[in-house]
Amino acid sequence: MDKFDVIVIGGGPGGYLAAERAGHAGLKTAVIEKRALGGVCLNEGCVPSKTFLNSAKIYEHALDGKVFGVTAENVKIDQNVVVDRKNKVVAQLVGGVGMQMKANHVTVLNGVGKILSKTPDGFVVSVDGKDEYLASKLIISSGSTAFVPNIKGAKESLESGFAMTNREILDLREIPKKLVVIGGGVIGLEMASYFNSVGSDVTVIEALNKIAGPTDSEISNILLKNYQKKGVDFRLSCSVTEIADGKVVYTENGESKSVEADKVLIAIGRRAFTADLGLENIGVYTERGAIVTDENMRTNVAGVYATGDVNGKIMLAHTAYRESEVAVNHILGKKDKMRYEAIPSVIYTTPEVGSVGETEDSAKAKGLDFKVATVSMRFSGRYVAEVENGDGICKLIIDNKYNRLIGVHLIGSYASEIIYGAAMMIESEFKIDDIKEFVFPHPTVCEVIREALFTI
Ligand code: FAD
Ligand code: NAI
Repeated sequence: MDKFDVIVIGGGPGGYLAAERAGHAGLKTAVIEKRALGGVCLNEGCVPSKTFLNSAKIYEHALDGKVFGVTAENVKIDQNVVVDRKNKVVAQLVGGVGMQMKANHVTVLNGVGKILSKTPDGFVVSVDGKDEYLASKLIISSGSTAFVPNIKGAKESLESGFAMTNREILDLREIPKKLVVIGGGVIGLEMASYFNSVGSDVTVIEALNKIAGPTDSEISNILLKNYQKKGVDFRLSCSVTEIADGKVVYTENGESKSVEADKVLIAIGRRAFTADLGLENIGVYTERGAIVTDENMRTNVAGVYATGDVNGKIMLAHTAYRESEVAVNHILGKKDKMRYEAIPSVIYTTPEVGSVGETEDSAKAKGLDFKVATVSMRFSGRYVAEVENGDGICKLIIDNKYNRLIGVHLIGSYASEIIYGAAMMIESEFKIDDIKEFVFPHPTVCEVIREALFTI
């Protein structure tokens, strides 16, 4: 039986990064992947959705350029080209992951990995129920899958193709006339944004009274208004009761209503994927379906780690990356631990939303002593130059006791590229007076952070 220092189960961002770091450090490493390297992120998540959204952005620029002095005629979007280009981008990036595995001497095993037992020689893992391998350490990065609710007709609609999850919608070659999106969270909003831009009538049905989940309420409200203006129909505080052929039935204030649909996207959250991993064979502890981990990404079984979506903490690719680094560092005996306070998140709508740290709501709920500094994005010359009638804001949450930033929330262009700087300020626990001395490049949109600081 081939023996490895580390076997990683799952080749998504959590898994391939863990394998890459372990291999780079000289550990004999294998990664087992049953579908395609790159996982959800590269194949049916982050990257495909962003290629779609970029096509929509170019299309909108071409349609709406008049105000900037640019006009174009016969502007069309070709969904076949969009999907083909997405596939090309995905193939390129998946190929890149394969090359990284080679460069770091990682063995890639294609098939379903299952943990069979723990022996004095190590953990025994099978691939596709046949070949068996031994590992001194295991890193489980098996990711997550779309949650399918127990709603009448949901399963049948998915089978017939009337309803879709993120996987199917990112391969859609025809733009539906009427798209109903169930769930006004991140996936729902990004897909509503794309299909609204390219001409679908989009209705979003959301159970809560706000969109974008834990996003700062003021910011999610600006986002809502922007998309209402663009024609997206939001039905908030509504529960879907049935997905039937051609329509979605929901209740609003106890009253049953329905909306017609050509296609339906189900995007009401994701669940850690632990099926068929053989966790029970070695006694790995799970809670509400997710593997429980500590600050070193260790599970309750010595030598077994779990990183990425499967631990159900923060389901983002960059969280998975960092968790995997922490796990490998622990295996290598290096001092490191996972911190979740300054993990940035982005919603790639237009306008973009970038958030990190406490929101006004969460700071209030924790009883923190804080103040808020908010400025319009129009404080940035570049924003005014590039965005017509923009209503973006930059909102800082400042801890009064320690005089430092604990949250930054942006809605407007480049928010996705700016937010990491804010995360660094929070993570490094800089004092407000220190940040005031930082020099920001001009004219940039990130200058709004500096402007906001000087309002307090
Ligand atoms: P996954 O990417 O799910 O990878 C797990 C891998 O394990 C899969 O390839 C699976 O086939 C494999 N696997 C599972 N079980 C086994 C087994 N027994 N044997 C072998 N292989 C197995 N995050 C961001 O940070 N930014 C974004 O813009 C973003 N956009 C997203 C858009 C969409 C539509 C979706 C659905 C998600 C998005 N995410 C985004 C979230 C991001 O995709 C995930 O957080 C990330 O993929 C998690 O990485 P992971 O390695 O934990 O799991
Ligand atoms: P989500 O948790 O972001 O949003 C789900 C939404 O569905 C919530 O607003 C919830 O209230 C609503 N909902 C739940 N049950 C419902 C019901 N029965 N009827 C109507 N609404 C209902 O989950 P989503 O959008 O599926 O995304 C999953 C995860 O993927 C995200 O949490 C995020 O971690 C990751 N992701 C990240 C992206 C990014 O970083 N840009 C993009 C897309 C996904």
